[in-house]
Amino acid sequence: MSTMGSTTESTARSLGFLLLPAFLLYVDHSWLSVGATTQELLIGFTATPDPPVSSFQPLLHNPNGTFSLGFLRNGSSQLALAIVHVPSSEPVWLANPTRWARWSKSTVLFFNGSLVLSDPHTGVLWSTHTDGERLLILNSGNLQIQKLDGSGSVVLWQSFDFPSDTLLENQNFTMNVSLVSSNGLYSMRLGDDFIGLYVEFKAGLDQIYWRHRALEAKASIVDGRPIYARVSPNGFLGMYQTEAAPVDVQSFNTFHRPISGIRRLRLESDGNLRGYYWYDSKWVSDFQAIDNECELPNACGSYGLCLPGGDCRCLDNRTEYSSGGCFPPESGDFCKVRGEDYASATEYWVLRRAGVELPYKELMGFEKMGSLEECESSCKSNCSCWGSVFHNVSGFCYALNYPISTLVSFGDASKIGYFKVRRIEEEKTRRGVRLADGIALLIGTVLIFVGIAGFGTYMWMRRKELEHDIFMEEQDLSHGSYRELLRSSSFGAVELCKR
Ligand SMILES: *[C@@H]1O[C@H](CO)[C@@H](O)[C@H](O)[C@H]1NC(C)=O
Ligand SMILES: *[C@@H]1O[C@H](CO)[C@@H](O)[C@H](O)[C@H]1NC(C)=O
Ligand SMILES: *[C@@H]1O[C@H](CO)[C@@H](O)[C@H](O)[C@H]1NC(C)=O
Ligand SMILES: *[C@@H]1O[C@H](CO)[C@@H](O)[C@H](O)[C@H]1NC(C)=O
Ligand SMILES: *[C@@H]1O[C@H](CO)[C@@H](O)[C@H](O)[C@H]1NC(C)=O
Repeated sequence: MSTMGSTTESTARSLGFLLLPAFLLYVDHSWLSVGATTQELLIGFTATPDPPVSSFQPLLHNPNGTFSLGFLRNGSSQLALAIVHVPSSEPVWLANPTRWARWSKSTVLFFNGSLVLSDPHTGVLWSTHTDGERLLILNSGNLQIQKLDGSGSVVLWQSFDFPSDTLLENQNFTMNVSLVSSNGLYSMRLGDDFIGLYVEFKAGLDQIYWRHRALEAKASIVDGRPIYARVSPNGFLGMYQTEAAPVDVQSFNTFHRPISGIRRLRLESDGNLRGYYWYDSKWVSDFQAIDNECELPNACGSYGLCLPGGDCRCLDNRTEYSSGGCFPPESGDFCKVRGEDYASATEYWVLRRAGVELPYKELMGFEKMGSLEECESSCKSNCSCWGSVFHNVSGFCYALNYPISTLVSFGDASKIGYFKVRRIEEEKTRRGVRLADGIALLIGTVLIFVGIAGFGTYMWMRRKELEHDIFMEEQDLSHGSYRELLRSSSFGAVELCKR
């Protein structure tokens, strides 16, 4: 807090200086008479990242100081424009979550009616595309660009309309936006009558792994009218069509308990959706969408097997489990190998495992088939299929059309998994061995060549020396031509020669 305070002060001073021209331009506006502080940014504001700052450089804060807009540093060189919850240093909003700027003097944030983050190398990285007059953060954590309109002000843009991975309490989540986890793998969206969590194991293919349908206890859904969701200060995630009554109430553990701190909901990088409230200087979780760890979409990584209780193993029982998965994460499919349509069995080997189940099979499509063989061969012949799970009793065949992630261990051996494993690793190893062999051979050849050349030069020099000696004995040769001979031979040969 103390370091943040002093930085805020210095920012305030530099802002005062930078905003001087804006003062002169807009001096007739009454709200400017209170003076420019870091609670409000005006046209003309610019800022660049400070090289010594290691985590966060505040630029603007809300009236009670709990939220701050500033430059968030990621590692040594990456920068995001972020709103952080000051007491916990937790980012609650990022302007540019998919496209980092560089932490360098050339990156600049300015407000010219639009809030713009730009870099002379790449141009405008992010912009609000507005024509506003001031920028401020409300106590709710909502960053707004406003324009004066008679006696009041109109909101032209607000960060609440562009969430990243977090919803703060009272922030409307509409059908036009999605929450995306910080690793970019998971997203949350609204359907016509439900909230869905999706995973993108393969580019362009979203698999739903959690769905919460509106119960419509207090109000029914009217067809064709969009729904929106919101975290209520009373401890629930509500779905609405109108403000009159929610069509669904997903209650948290603190439902209708008086909580003084604020609430937030975040789509985490493990794919879970968790609710938190601020209490006693820390975030306490009071909600999670998925309670059973094995039901997370990728609890044990690629080709992992989740055991009841959350322990991880590998689908291939010869492979030792290590965090991050059992085989390297995959992408794509088997349809375009080496630029041509190709679904050959030489591109993969087959791993079978009985007693496995899909973590969210009730949300997956299936086809009824007569036998295990039929189920497997339908996957085998389809180059976009990575595997299948067959239920012996029901005859349901589930096709996995994305790289294999984690499956759930299921005692009953009547559920049989068939999985393709790409041969890339073996090929790479083989290629690696070939490369190493090649290098060794090359080095050997060079050494032998150098040896022969050196010896040859040595012999040649010796003979020359002998000839020279004989010549010197016979004729009185000038020193110069001998020096010329030395210059024309390599240094090594000369060294050899001297011995
Ligand atoms: C603000 O700057 C951006 C980027 O340079 C530019 O595209 C935009 O037109 C400017 N807006 C105004 C109102 O001057
Ligand atoms: C959320 O939506 C409701 C209904 O449209 C609206 O009254 C309210 O002002 C919105 N809240 C915010 C913070 O935008
Ligand atoms: C590993 O799996 C194979 C094939 O399912 C099975 O035959 C073998 O007994 C298993 N080995 C161990 C140690 O469980
Ligand atoms: C392969 O599987 C995909 C995904 O299920 C499906 O859309 C496609 O039609 C299948 N192709 C064939 C040839 O069956
Ligand atoms: C699967 O079904 C077949 C035929 O219905 C049966 O013979 C076989 O024992 C079953 N296998 C398992 C593991 O239940």
